[in-house]
Amino acid sequence: MRLAVNIDHIATLREARKGRQPEPVAAALLAERAGAEGITVHLRGDRRHIKERDLELLRQTIATRLNIEMAATGEMARIALQIRPDQVTLVPERPQELTTEGGLDVALNAAAIREFVKQPHEAGIKISIFIDADLDQVKAARAVGADAVEINTGPYAEASGEARAAMLARIADAARMASRHGLEVLAGHGLDYFNVGPIAAIPEIVEANIGHSIVARAALVGLDRAVRDMAHLIRR
Ligand code: PXP
Repeated sequence: MRLAVNIDHIATLREARKGRQPEPVAAALLAERAGAEGITVHLRGDRRHIKERDLELLRQTIATRLNIEMAATGEMARIALQIRPDQVTLVPERPQELTTEGGLDVALNAAAIREFVKQPHEAGIKISIFIDADLDQVKAARAVGADAVEINTGPYAEASGEARAAMLARIADAARMASRHGLEVLAGHGLDYFNVGPIAAIPEIVEANIGHSIVARAALVGLDRAVRDMAHLIRR
C-alpha cells in the first residue's frame, strides 16, 4: 500500500499568520524524502489553506504523484486543466465545514460529475471520487467514469468496539466490489498511527491519504520522523 501525505495543514499553519512559513513545498519534498509516494492537497472554494500558487509550485517540484482534492465545479475543472495533477479527487464541500464531512453522493451528482470528468480525462488526469463505504456509491462511481474511488474511513476512525469492526467490514466489502468493477481503491480520512493497521491489511486498498495525524505528530517529532513512522506501519 502506498502512502500519500496530505499537506493542507502545513498551509493552515502558514495562513494563521498570512505569511510565508511554513512553506508547503518544503514539507512536500521532505515528506517524499521520508517515503511518501504521493502528495495530496485540497483546493477549497474559500482557499483557507492551499492556494493556486501552491499547486503551481508543487507541480513543478515534487517527484511523486500530485493528487488535488476539489469540488466538481467548472472553476475547479479549469484549474485542474491548467495545473495537470496526476489525479483529481472529487469531494463534497460545505463552506462552513471544519473538514470534509462525508463521501460524495455520486448518484445524486451524476450529471455534474460526468460533465467534470470529460476534459481532465482527455488531458490524462485520473479521476478518483471520495465515497462512503457503500456498494451503491461504488456502482455509481463506475457509471460516471471514475478511475478510482477513495473510501471514506472517517466513520471507522470515529467508531469504537463492535461499531468499528462493522465499519471495517463495510470498507472491506466496498473495496472488494470496487476492485471487481475495475476501480483502483484508495482510503482516507481520520487515519492515524493507531487505527491504520486494519485498513492497510485490506488487500484491495492500494493507497492511503493521510494528513492531520501526520502533521500533528510532525509538530512534536518532526515531519521526517512522522512520515517514516506512518510509512512503516502501512507497509508492515
Ligand atoms: N481524504 C479526503 C478526501 C479528505 O478530504 C481528507 C481531509 O482533507 C483526507 C483524506 C485526509 O484526512 P485526514 O486529514 O483526517 O488524515
